[in-house]
Amino acid sequence: MRRTKISDILKTGEVGEEYLVKGWVRTRRGSRQVNFIALNDGSVIHNLQIVADVEKFGEDLLRRATTGASLAITGKLSPSQGSGQKVEMLAEKLEVLGDCDPNAYPLQPKKHSLEFLREKAHLRFRTSTFSAIARVRHAMIFAVHNFFTSKGFVNIHTPIITASDAEGAGEMFQVTTMDLNQLPKKEDGGIDFSKDFFGKATNLTVSGQLEGELAAMGLADIYTFGPTFRAENSNTTRHLAEFWMIEPEMAFYDLNDNMDLAEEFLKYLIRYALDHCQDDLDFLSKRLLEEEKNKKAEERSMELLEKLRFVVENEFVRLTYTEAIQILKDSKPNKKKQFKYPIEGYGADLQSEHERFLVEKHFKKPVVLTDYPKEIKAFYMKLNEDHKTVRAMDVLFPQIGEIIGGSQREENYDKLLARMEEMDIPAEEMWWYLDTRRFGAVPHSGFGLGFERLMLFVTGMGNIRDVIPFPRTPKSAEF
Ligand code: 4AD
Ligand code: MG
Repeated sequence: MRRTKISDILKTGEVGEEYLVKGWVRTRRGSRQVNFIALNDGSVIHNLQIVADVEKFGEDLLRRATTGASLAITGKLSPSQGSGQKVEMLAEKLEVLGDCDPNAYPLQPKKHSLEFLREKAHLRFRTSTFSAIARVRHAMIFAVHNFFTSKGFVNIHTPIITASDAEGAGEMFQVTTMDLNQLPKKEDGGIDFSKDFFGKATNLTVSGQLEGELAAMGLADIYTFGPTFRAENSNTTRHLAEFWMIEPEMAFYDLNDNMDLAEEFLKYLIRYALDHCQDDLDFLSKRLLEEEKNKKAEERSMELLEKLRFVVENEFVRLTYTEAIQILKDSKPNKKKQFKYPIEGYGADLQSEHERFLVEKHFKKPVVLTDYPKEIKAFYMKLNEDHKTVRAMDVLFPQIGEIIGGSQREENYDKLLARMEEMDIPAEEMWWYLDTRRFGAVPHSGFGLGFERLMLFVTGMGNIRDVIPFPRTPKSAEF
């Protein structure tokens, strides 16, 4: 008999029919006569209740069906007498595929802390929380490709190893095959990278944008969706050293077109989750309520589904950085010195406490900030006529702060070159990037969505380490 997934059994299984299921035991309980085994195979948040007759299978066999053990069971589907499920399976054949020593297995049939499960990341897929997150993550990946496909965008694979620093922030992991104990030296004492694998210094990419721009200058609408690497030493709940980013790049788009696309994209993704991940989101919503039940009312976040609907149904507020600074400067927490980084005026780099104040307290809606001072943004952003600000946009979300960063790009060759020189970006090594400004340059724009930041928002989880299967953070690269 072919195996049926539990998700299919619960959706379309017919009472009286016989099925074969395989999965892992979540719990087993019972009496002398009958055992109830909650079996989960990862296809859905719900378990299938297996009813096993003790006399039929013998206590020795059933005793091996401990939490974590894997089983194959054939049986008839029957209406369930118990509460909590509509159907259950009356076992006719039961085979233990893999035993699981209950004294050694770290996952017990009780609530474990997220911190504990982070140390058991090799096993946490077997918990309800992490299997739900993994399924939602998959749905979001699929939705990203769906959205752009429906708009005629072309997905471009940009390189993971590069010689450039797209964001100019110097937060790169070097890539080398040289022996670190015996580095070849140049006459001036510096390292001779011409002897390295690629004949030059290389690093893991911090963004696919620069290559994405090259593709957009022929294909018009492209997007990348790949891993990015940042060696920033920020041990926060919102930063990873390895994260996934979606970067669309569009020829002929100005900043307004860019904002429109970003808003439409985010709303599409969240609606997709609401429409396709109901069971998992229900579970995650309950998890969040449980987690926050001891918090004071004003510290609790909005109920998860309500929050997701709220974002889908409301227009994002758009305002300039300068307007935002004014609001922040005059705000209560600033006057009462409650911000860790007080806002004195124009020029301040916004911290997540400021971003969250604007979104959660002031506007109570997602916010798009534009036209930041050029000094705090990347070299490639288009300079405004005031020569002070650039056509940047950051989308700010409740709980997260910045979820998207983007801009209209500087397409004028001379202005771009001048910005690169001002910011010490080596122009000679970026000749290929500059070339697009020499040959048929057009206005163009793009943005980057941090995929794990989106996942934080959609799942209501509080720590970015819990929405990627194997997090990479400072001093941590286990598994
Ligand atoms: O604002 P960022 O640095 O923008 C860029 O990389 C541009 N090249 C994007 C573009 O215009 N094509 O990063 C974009 C987004 C941020 O808004 C944030 O959501 C996410 O990437 N991000 C991180 N996510 C997790 N961990 C980190 N260390 C992150 N750094 C940025
Ligand atoms: Mg940014």
